[in-house]
Amino acid sequence: EAIEKGGYPHFMLKEIFEQPRSIMDSMRGRLVAENTQLTMSSIREYATRFKNADRILIVACGTSWHAGLVAEYMIEEFARIPVEVEYASEFRYRNPIIREGDIVIAISQSGETADTLAALELAKAKGAMIFGVCNVVGSSIARATDAGAYTHAGPEIGVASTKAFTAQVTVLSLIAMMIAEMRGTMELTALRTLMLEMEKIPAKVEQALQLDKEIQAISEIFKDASNFIYLGRGFNFPVALEGALKLKEISYIHAEGYPAAEMKHGPIALIDENMPVVVIATKDSSYEKIVSNVQEVRARKGRVIAIVTEGDTVIPQMAEFVIEVPSTHEALMPLLSVIPLQLLSYHIAVLRGCNVDQPRNLAKSVTVE
Ligand code: G6P
Repeated sequence: EAIEKGGYPHFMLKEIFEQPRSIMDSMRGRLVAENTQLTMSSIREYATRFKNADRILIVACGTSWHAGLVAEYMIEEFARIPVEVEYASEFRYRNPIIREGDIVIAISQSGETADTLAALELAKAKGAMIFGVCNVVGSSIARATDAGAYTHAGPEIGVASTKAFTAQVTVLSLIAMMIAEMRGTMELTALRTLMLEMEKIPAKVEQALQLDKEIQAISEIFKDASNFIYLGRGFNFPVALEGALKLKEISYIHAEGYPAAEMKHGPIALIDENMPVVVIATKDSSYEKIVSNVQEVRARKGRVIAIVTEGDTVIPQMAEFVIEVPSTHEALMPLLSVIPLQLLSYHIAVLRGCNVDQPRNLAKSVTVE
Protein backbone atom coordinates (compact mmCIF):
# COMPACT_ATOMS: atom_id res chain seq x y z
CA GLU A 1 0.00 0.00 0.00
CA ALA A 2 2.90 2.34 0.78
CA ILE A 3 4.07 1.87 -2.79
CA GLU A 4 0.60 2.58 -4.15
CA LYS A 5 0.55 5.83 -2.23
CA GLY A 6 3.68 6.88 -4.06
CA GLY A 7 5.36 8.35 -1.01
CA TYR A 8 2.31 10.30 0.16
CA PRO A 9 0.86 9.59 3.62
CA HIS A 10 -2.66 9.25 2.21
CA PHE A 11 -4.31 8.46 -1.10
CA MET A 12 -6.25 11.68 -0.87
CA LEU A 13 -3.12 13.80 -0.79
CA LYS A 14 -1.61 11.80 -3.64
CA GLU A 15 -4.75 12.33 -5.66
CA ILE A 16 -4.83 16.06 -4.90
CA PHE A 17 -1.26 16.32 -6.16
CA GLU A 18 -2.03 14.24 -9.24
CA GLN A 19 -4.42 16.86 -10.57
CA PRO A 20 -2.11 18.66 -13.01
CA ARG A 21 -1.63 15.28 -14.64
CA SER A 22 -5.21 14.02 -14.41
CA ILE A 23 -6.60 17.26 -15.86
CA MET A 24 -4.10 16.97 -18.69
CA ASP A 25 -5.17 13.36 -19.28
CA SER A 26 -8.80 14.45 -19.44
CA MET A 27 -7.94 16.99 -22.14
CA ARG A 28 -5.53 14.85 -24.08
CA GLY A 29 -6.45 14.43 -27.74
CA ARG A 30 -9.55 16.53 -27.21
CA LEU A 31 -8.24 20.06 -27.34
CA VAL A 32 -5.79 21.87 -29.60
CA ALA A 33 -6.31 25.52 -28.77
CA GLU A 34 -3.88 26.79 -31.37
CA ASN A 35 -6.14 25.47 -34.12
CA THR A 36 -9.35 26.13 -32.16
CA GLN A 37 -9.90 22.42 -32.38
CA LEU A 38 -12.10 20.33 -30.12
CA THR A 39 -12.42 16.61 -30.62
CA MET A 40 -14.89 14.45 -28.77
CA SER A 41 -16.26 11.88 -31.16
CA SER A 42 -19.31 11.06 -29.02
CA ILE A 43 -20.46 14.68 -29.16
CA ARG A 44 -19.82 14.93 -32.91
CA GLU A 45 -21.74 11.72 -33.44
CA TYR A 46 -24.78 13.26 -31.78
CA ALA A 47 -24.12 16.74 -33.17
CA THR A 48 -27.69 17.24 -34.38
CA ARG A 49 -29.13 16.26 -30.99
CA PHE A 50 -26.78 18.59 -29.15
CA LYS A 51 -27.26 21.42 -31.60
CA ASN A 52 -31.02 21.26 -31.36
CA ALA A 53 -31.42 20.26 -27.73
CA ASP A 54 -34.25 22.12 -26.01
CA ARG A 55 -32.87 21.44 -22.61
CA ILE A 56 -30.08 19.59 -20.88
CA LEU A 57 -30.77 17.80 -17.62
CA ILE A 58 -27.87 16.78 -15.45
CA VAL A 59 -28.28 14.01 -12.90
CA ALA A 60 -25.65 13.11 -10.32
CA CYS A 61 -24.94 12.74 -6.60
CA GLY A 62 -22.41 14.21 -4.18
CA THR A 63 -19.30 15.78 -5.64
CA SER A 64 -20.40 14.82 -9.16
CA TRP A 65 -23.53 16.90 -8.60
CA HIS A 66 -21.28 19.88 -7.81
CA ALA A 67 -19.42 19.34 -11.09
CA GLY A 68 -22.87 19.33 -12.70
CA LEU A 69 -23.61 22.75 -11.23
CA VAL A 70 -20.41 24.15 -12.72
CA ALA A 71 -21.48 22.62 -16.04
CA GLU A 72 -24.87 24.31 -15.78
CA TYR A 73 -23.21 27.71 -15.56
CA MET A 74 -20.84 26.89 -18.42
CA ILE A 75 -23.35 25.38 -20.83
CA GLU A 76 -25.86 28.17 -20.29
CA GLU A 77 -23.17 30.84 -20.66
CA PHE A 78 -21.41 29.42 -23.71
CA ALA A 79 -23.98 27.30 -25.53
CA ARG A 80 -27.18 29.09 -24.44
CA ILE A 81 -29.13 25.90 -23.77
CA PRO A 82 -31.23 25.81 -20.58
CA VAL A 83 -29.75 23.38 -18.07
CA GLU A 84 -31.21 21.85 -14.94
CA VAL A 85 -29.10 20.01 -12.41
CA GLU A 86 -30.87 17.43 -10.34
CA TYR A 87 -29.99 15.17 -7.47
CA ALA A 88 -30.49 11.75 -9.02
CA SER A 89 -32.32 10.54 -5.90
CA GLU A 90 -34.92 13.30 -6.17
CA PHE A 91 -35.28 13.16 -9.92
CA ARG A 92 -36.08 9.47 -10.04
CA TYR A 93 -38.98 9.67 -7.61
CA ARG A 94 -40.75 12.83 -8.63
CA ASN A 95 -42.28 11.96 -12.00
CA PRO A 96 -40.02 14.42 -13.84
CA ILE A 97 -40.99 16.00 -17.14
CA ILE A 98 -38.72 14.59 -19.82
CA ARG A 99 -39.24 15.32 -23.50
CA GLU A 100 -37.68 13.81 -26.58
CA GLY A 101 -35.61 16.88 -27.34
CA ASP A 102 -33.97 16.65 -23.93
CA ILE A 103 -30.47 15.42 -23.33
CA VAL A 104 -29.67 13.92 -19.97
CA ILE A 105 -26.08 13.99 -18.80
CA ALA A 106 -25.30 11.53 -16.02
CA ILE A 107 -22.11 12.35 -14.12
CA SER A 108 -20.49 9.69 -11.96
CA GLN A 109 -16.94 8.96 -10.94
CA SER A 110 -17.58 5.29 -10.15
CA GLY A 111 -20.30 4.77 -12.72
CA GLU A 112 -22.03 2.60 -10.13
CA THR A 113 -24.12 4.99 -8.03
CA ALA A 114 -27.55 3.37 -7.72
CA ASP A 115 -29.60 6.57 -7.77
CA THR A 116 -27.79 7.98 -10.80
CA LEU A 117 -28.19 4.72 -12.68
CA ALA A 118 -31.91 4.57 -11.87
CA ALA A 119 -32.38 8.22 -12.86
CA LEU A 120 -30.84 7.70 -16.26
CA GLU A 121 -32.81 4.50 -16.87
CA LEU A 122 -35.98 6.46 -16.15
CA ALA A 123 -35.02 9.26 -18.54
CA LYS A 124 -34.06 6.74 -21.19
CA ALA A 125 -37.43 5.03 -20.92
CA LYS A 126 -39.06 8.40 -21.52
CA GLY A 127 -37.13 8.92 -24.74
CA ALA A 128 -34.30 11.24 -23.76
CA MET A 129 -30.82 10.77 -25.11
CA ILE A 130 -28.41 9.86 -22.31
CA PHE A 131 -24.83 11.01 -22.23
CA GLY A 132 -22.44 9.78 -19.55
CA VAL A 133 -19.47 11.46 -17.95
CA CYS A 134 -17.84 8.65 -15.98
CA ASN A 135 -14.39 7.89 -14.71
CA VAL A 136 -14.51 4.12 -14.44
CA VAL A 137 -14.31 2.55 -17.87
CA GLY A 138 -16.96 -0.08 -18.56
CA SER A 139 -18.93 0.78 -15.40
CA SER A 140 -22.70 0.24 -15.19
CA ILE A 141 -23.56 3.88 -15.93
CA ALA A 142 -21.08 4.06 -18.79
CA ARG A 143 -22.68 0.98 -20.29
CA ALA A 144 -26.24 2.19 -19.82
CA THR A 145 -25.73 5.49 -21.66
CA ASP A 146 -26.20 6.15 -25.40
CA ALA A 147 -22.87 7.91 -25.62
CA GLY A 148 -20.34 9.45 -23.30
CA ALA A 149 -16.94 10.84 -22.53
CA TYR A 150 -14.63 9.32 -19.96
CA THR A 151 -12.84 11.60 -17.54
CA HIS A 152 -9.51 9.71 -17.55
CA ALA A 153 -8.62 10.77 -14.00
CA GLY A 154 -7.25 7.31 -13.21
CA PRO A 155 -8.34 5.27 -10.19
CA GLU A 156 -9.50 7.36 -7.26
CA ILE A 157 -9.07 5.57 -3.93
CA GLY A 158 -9.71 8.29 -1.34
CA VAL A 159 -13.40 8.31 -0.46
CA ALA A 160 -13.52 12.11 -0.66
CA SER A 161 -13.43 12.88 -4.36
CA THR A 162 -10.76 15.31 -5.56
CA LYS A 163 -9.14 14.57 -8.91
CA ALA A 164 -12.37 13.06 -10.23
CA PHE A 165 -14.10 16.41 -9.63
CA THR A 166 -11.54 18.45 -11.54
CA ALA A 167 -11.54 15.88 -14.34
CA GLN A 168 -15.34 16.10 -14.55
CA VAL A 169 -15.22 19.89 -14.70
CA THR A 170 -12.53 19.66 -17.39
CA VAL A 171 -14.54 17.31 -19.59
CA LEU A 172 -17.76 19.22 -19.03
CA SER A 173 -16.08 22.48 -19.98
CA LEU A 174 -14.87 20.91 -23.23
CA ILE A 175 -18.41 19.67 -23.86
CA ALA A 176 -19.79 23.17 -23.23
CA MET A 177 -17.24 24.62 -25.65
CA MET A 178 -18.06 22.04 -28.30
CA ILE A 179 -21.78 22.67 -28.12
CA ALA A 180 -21.11 26.41 -28.25
CA GLU A 181 -19.01 25.92 -31.35
CA MET A 182 -21.66 23.78 -33.05
CA ARG A 183 -24.44 26.21 -32.21
CA GLY A 184 -22.39 29.27 -33.09
CA THR A 185 -23.22 30.88 -29.76
CA MET A 186 -19.67 32.06 -29.10
CA GLU A 187 -17.38 34.29 -31.14
CA LEU A 188 -14.51 32.23 -32.49
CA THR A 189 -11.93 34.52 -30.89
CA ALA A 190 -13.62 34.21 -27.49
CA LEU A 191 -13.75 30.46 -27.88
CA ARG A 192 -10.08 30.37 -28.79
CA THR A 193 -9.15 32.49 -25.76
CA LEU A 194 -11.08 30.11 -23.54
CA MET A 195 -9.37 27.11 -25.10
CA LEU A 196 -5.94 28.68 -24.66
CA GLU A 197 -6.76 29.29 -20.99
CA MET A 198 -7.90 25.69 -20.63
CA GLU A 199 -4.55 24.45 -21.91
CA LYS A 200 -2.78 26.45 -19.21
CA ILE A 201 -4.84 24.99 -16.37
CA PRO A 202 -2.57 22.03 -15.48
CA ALA A 203 0.41 24.35 -14.96
CA LYS A 204 -1.72 26.71 -12.89
CA VAL A 205 -3.01 23.83 -10.75
CA GLU A 206 0.63 22.92 -10.18
CA GLN A 207 1.20 26.46 -8.98
CA ALA A 208 -1.86 26.34 -6.69
CA LEU A 209 -0.53 23.13 -5.13
CA GLN A 210 2.49 25.05 -3.91
CA LEU A 211 0.15 26.66 -1.37
CA ASP A 212 0.22 23.44 0.60
CA LYS A 213 2.45 24.62 3.46
CA GLU A 214 0.59 27.90 3.78
CA ILE A 215 -2.71 26.06 4.00
CA GLN A 216 -1.32 23.64 6.54
CA ALA A 217 -0.46 26.62 8.76
CA ILE A 218 -3.98 28.02 8.42
CA SER A 219 -5.38 24.57 9.20
CA GLU A 220 -3.50 24.55 12.51
CA ILE A 221 -5.34 27.70 13.51
CA PHE A 222 -8.80 26.44 12.63
CA LYS A 223 -8.55 22.73 13.38
CA ASP A 224 -10.71 22.97 16.50
CA ALA A 225 -13.53 24.94 14.96
CA SER A 226 -16.92 23.29 15.16
CA ASN A 227 -18.49 25.12 12.24
CA PHE A 228 -17.41 26.62 8.93
CA ILE A 229 -19.19 28.66 6.29
CA TYR A 230 -18.08 28.65 2.65
CA LEU A 231 -19.21 31.40 0.31
CA GLY A 232 -18.89 31.90 -3.43
CA ARG A 233 -20.75 33.47 -6.30
CA GLY A 234 -21.21 32.56 -9.95
CA PHE A 235 -18.85 29.85 -11.11
CA ASN A 236 -17.40 29.70 -7.62
CA PHE A 237 -20.71 28.99 -5.91
CA PRO A 238 -20.50 25.23 -6.62
CA VAL A 239 -16.91 25.37 -5.35
CA ALA A 240 -18.20 26.72 -2.03
CA LEU A 241 -20.53 23.72 -1.81
CA GLU A 242 -17.70 21.36 -2.70
CA GLY A 243 -15.32 22.93 -0.16
CA ALA A 244 -17.92 22.53 2.59
CA LEU A 245 -18.64 18.96 1.56
CA LYS A 246 -14.95 18.04 1.66
CA LEU A 247 -14.61 19.40 5.20
CA LYS A 248 -17.73 17.59 6.44
CA GLU A 249 -16.72 14.32 4.84
CA ILE A 250 -13.27 13.92 6.27
CA SER A 251 -12.93 16.17 9.31
CA TYR A 252 -16.50 15.85 10.67
CA ILE A 253 -16.73 19.60 11.13
CA HIS A 254 -20.12 21.00 10.30
CA ALA A 255 -19.81 23.21 7.25
CA GLU A 256 -22.29 25.01 5.03
CA GLY A 257 -21.67 26.16 1.49
CA TYR A 258 -23.78 29.09 0.35
CA PRO A 259 -24.09 31.50 -2.54
CA ALA A 260 -22.55 34.59 -0.93
CA ALA A 261 -25.52 36.88 -1.46
CA GLU A 262 -27.90 34.35 0.03
CA MET A 263 -25.98 34.55 3.31
CA LYS A 264 -28.15 37.44 4.44
CA HIS A 265 -31.21 35.19 4.34
CA GLY A 266 -30.02 32.99 7.15
CA PRO A 267 -26.40 32.00 7.67
CA ILE A 268 -25.40 35.54 8.58
CA ALA A 269 -27.12 34.92 11.93
CA LEU A 270 -24.42 32.35 12.70
CA ILE A 271 -21.51 34.70 12.20
CA ASP A 272 -19.56 35.80 15.26
CA GLU A 273 -15.91 35.96 16.26
CA ASN A 274 -15.71 32.18 16.36
CA MET A 275 -16.97 31.52 12.87
CA PRO A 276 -14.44 30.80 10.13
CA VAL A 277 -15.80 31.93 6.78
CA VAL A 278 -14.04 30.77 3.65
CA VAL A 279 -14.82 33.20 0.85
CA ILE A 280 -13.90 32.43 -2.74
CA ALA A 281 -13.35 35.95 -3.97
CA THR A 282 -11.41 35.66 -7.20
CA LYS A 283 -11.43 38.44 -9.80
CA ASP A 284 -14.45 37.87 -11.97
CA SER A 285 -17.70 39.53 -12.94
CA SER A 286 -19.06 39.26 -9.39
CA TYR A 287 -15.90 40.48 -7.68
CA GLU A 288 -17.32 43.83 -6.49
CA LYS A 289 -20.29 42.03 -5.03
CA ILE A 290 -18.20 39.54 -3.14
CA VAL A 291 -16.05 42.34 -1.73
CA SER A 292 -19.15 43.67 -0.04
CA ASN A 293 -20.02 40.20 1.21
CA VAL A 294 -16.57 40.01 2.82
CA GLN A 295 -17.26 43.37 4.48
CA GLU A 296 -20.56 42.05 5.82
CA VAL A 297 -18.77 39.09 7.38
CA ARG A 298 -16.04 41.32 8.85
CA ALA A 299 -18.61 43.68 10.33
CA ARG A 300 -19.90 40.72 12.35
CA LYS A 301 -16.36 39.73 13.36
CA GLY A 302 -16.33 36.54 11.29
CA ARG A 303 -12.84 35.18 10.60
CA VAL A 304 -12.36 35.46 6.87
CA ILE A 305 -10.14 33.09 4.93
CA ALA A 306 -10.24 34.44 1.38
CA ILE A 307 -9.26 32.71 -1.83
CA VAL A 308 -8.21 35.51 -4.17
CA THR A 309 -6.61 36.00 -7.56
CA GLU A 310 -2.90 36.69 -7.28
CA GLY A 311 -2.10 40.37 -7.13
CA ASP A 312 -5.40 41.33 -5.48
CA THR A 313 -4.83 44.32 -3.20
CA VAL A 314 -8.37 44.97 -1.94
CA ILE A 315 -9.45 41.76 -0.20
CA PRO A 316 -6.12 41.30 1.63
CA GLN A 317 -6.95 44.48 3.56
CA MET A 318 -10.16 42.96 4.85
CA ALA A 319 -9.50 39.26 5.27
CA GLU A 320 -7.58 37.69 8.14
CA PHE A 321 -6.03 35.08 5.85
CA VAL A 322 -5.50 35.28 2.12
CA ILE A 323 -4.73 32.45 -0.26
CA GLU A 324 -3.71 33.47 -3.78
CA VAL A 325 -4.47 31.37 -6.83
CA PRO A 326 -3.36 32.17 -10.41
CA SER A 327 -5.74 34.09 -12.64
CA THR A 328 -7.71 32.41 -15.41
CA HIS A 329 -10.98 32.71 -17.34
CA GLU A 330 -13.76 32.97 -14.78
CA ALA A 331 -15.51 29.84 -16.05
CA LEU A 332 -12.37 27.80 -15.43
CA MET A 333 -11.65 29.23 -12.00
CA PRO A 334 -13.35 26.30 -10.18
CA LEU A 335 -10.45 24.14 -11.36
CA LEU A 336 -8.06 26.37 -9.43
CA SER A 337 -10.14 27.67 -6.53
CA VAL A 338 -11.10 24.17 -5.40
CA ILE A 339 -7.44 23.17 -4.88
CA PRO A 340 -6.83 25.16 -1.66
CA LEU A 341 -10.18 23.96 -0.32
CA GLN A 342 -9.22 20.32 -0.90
CA LEU A 343 -5.93 20.95 0.90
CA LEU A 344 -7.63 22.79 3.76
CA SER A 345 -10.01 19.93 4.45
CA TYR A 346 -7.18 17.42 4.14
CA HIS A 347 -4.90 19.15 6.63
CA ILE A 348 -7.66 19.87 9.13
CA ALA A 349 -8.73 16.22 9.03
CA VAL A 350 -5.15 15.01 9.52
CA LEU A 351 -4.63 17.40 12.43
CA ARG A 352 -7.82 16.14 14.04
CA GLY A 353 -6.59 12.58 13.72
CA CYS A 354 -9.34 11.52 11.31
CA ASN A 355 -9.15 8.63 8.90
CA VAL A 356 -8.78 10.72 5.77
CA ASP A 357 -9.00 8.00 3.15
CA GLN A 358 -11.84 6.10 4.77
CA PRO A 359 -14.06 8.47 6.71
CA ARG A 360 -16.68 6.99 9.00
CA ASN A 361 -20.10 6.15 7.54
CA LEU A 362 -19.09 6.94 3.95
CA ALA A 363 -18.51 4.68 0.97
CA LYS A 364 -16.57 5.33 -2.19
CA SER A 365 -19.54 4.37 -4.28
CA VAL A 366 -23.10 4.00 -3.08
CA THR A 367 -24.52 1.07 -5.00
CA VAL A 368 -27.64 0.72 -2.87
CA GLU A 369 -30.34 3.26 -2.15
C1 G6P B 1 -20.28 8.87 -2.66
C2 G6P B 1 -18.82 9.28 -2.60
C3 G6P B 1 -18.67 10.71 -3.13
C4 G6P B 1 -19.26 10.80 -4.52
C5 G6P B 1 -20.69 10.31 -4.58
C6 G6P B 1 -21.16 10.15 -6.02
O1 G6P B 1 -21.00 9.62 -1.75
O2 G6P B 1 -18.35 9.22 -1.27
O3 G6P B 1 -17.31 11.07 -3.16
O4 G6P B 1 -19.19 12.14 -4.98
O5 G6P B 1 -20.81 9.04 -3.97
O6 G6P B 1 -20.39 9.13 -6.60
P1 G6P B 1 -20.16 8.93 -8.13
O7 G6P B 1 -19.28 7.73 -8.24
O8 G6P B 1 -21.51 8.69 -8.76
O9 G6P B 1 -19.54 10.15 -8.67
